[in-house]
Amino acid sequence: MTVMPADLSGIDVRAEIERLRKERNAVILAHYYQRPELQDIADFVGDSLELSRKAAETDAEVIAFCGVKFMAETAKILSPNKIVVLPDVEAGCSLEDSCPPEKFKAFREAHPDHIALTYINCSTEVKALSDIIVTSSSAETILQQIPADQKIIFGPDRHLGGYLSRKFGREMLLWPGVCIVHEAFSETELLKLKAQHPAAPIAAHPECPPHIVDHADYVGSTSGILQYAKTTDADTLIVATEPHIIHQMQLAIPNKTFIGAPGADGNCNCNICPYMALNTMEKLYVALRDLEPRIEIEEQLRLDAKKSLDRMLDMASGTLGKGDLGTR
Ligand code: 13P
Ligand code: SF4
Repeated sequence: MTVMPADLSGIDVRAEIERLRKERNAVILAHYYQRPELQDIADFVGDSLELSRKAAETDAEVIAFCGVKFMAETAKILSPNKIVVLPDVEAGCSLEDSCPPEKFKAFREAHPDHIALTYINCSTEVKALSDIIVTSSSAETILQQIPADQKIIFGPDRHLGGYLSRKFGREMLLWPGVCIVHEAFSETELLKLKAQHPAAPIAAHPECPPHIVDHADYVGSTSGILQYAKTTDADTLIVATEPHIIHQMQLAIPNKTFIGAPGADGNCNCNICPYMALNTMEKLYVALRDLEPRIEIEEQLRLDAKKSLDRMLDMASGTLGKGDLGTR
């Protein structure tokens, strides 16, 4: 159940967050899909891979994670001695919901000669059942390190898996999950927008379905899209991912124009992630004040999930040899 902050009138929430951040020795991490005010107050804003790395490295005693539950759980898996709080514990993810651990386990057991390459957008239980975790910015590097004859299950995002499969000509068994946000972009509306701005390239996240990705000039993670926005010569960019990332683009490149790709209604509001939007400044303040809602993970489960995450962190930096993979 979502905990609504009690009446906070009269409280300078921003000043209180600043005070508590110091008092608690806390670091505030935020994903690019968070509200602008949360991005602005965070110590670090990043994509899923960058945030995992920050969570593993930080010296802070408390991690206040402005993102969704699987991200905060990843922080706890990697930094078990730190207190990890998530401003709204209901901040889930449609991809995680699409992949119940018992069904994933049965799927794995039905394909014993496959390794499970699993998108980080999943539960801790599914991470524990997986061989290697990937994010959208590490997936290509990691896939290329897996021997060509190794059979692969990819879950839970069938669009990211399908994109990788097409790009590398690699067959994979795909779990049928989707991100409800990226699924909502409309090809018809995107093409209408493109006709109005023919010189504007399209940057798309690989969680988008093929009918969107196929029109993109650039496909990549949130940090990849941000980098593309900075480096493209175009002065207008069409952005096919959750529109809150546009805040970072406007801060970094104020002289360019960024247009969110539309949903079926012709505007991009339906592409705001409803889970990410649950976090607010007020809830962040309460989380730092009460050190709740706190992420807790049973130790054996944490250790099992950490193996697949550690493999990602090693392989993403190229330190694990090609022969080190094995089926479970
Ligand atoms: P990245 O920031 O890793 O590209 O992930 C996008 C996303 O959907 C996170 O939920
Ligand atoms: Fe999950 Fe999609 Fe929201 Fe990311 S944007 S948290 S993948 S529902």
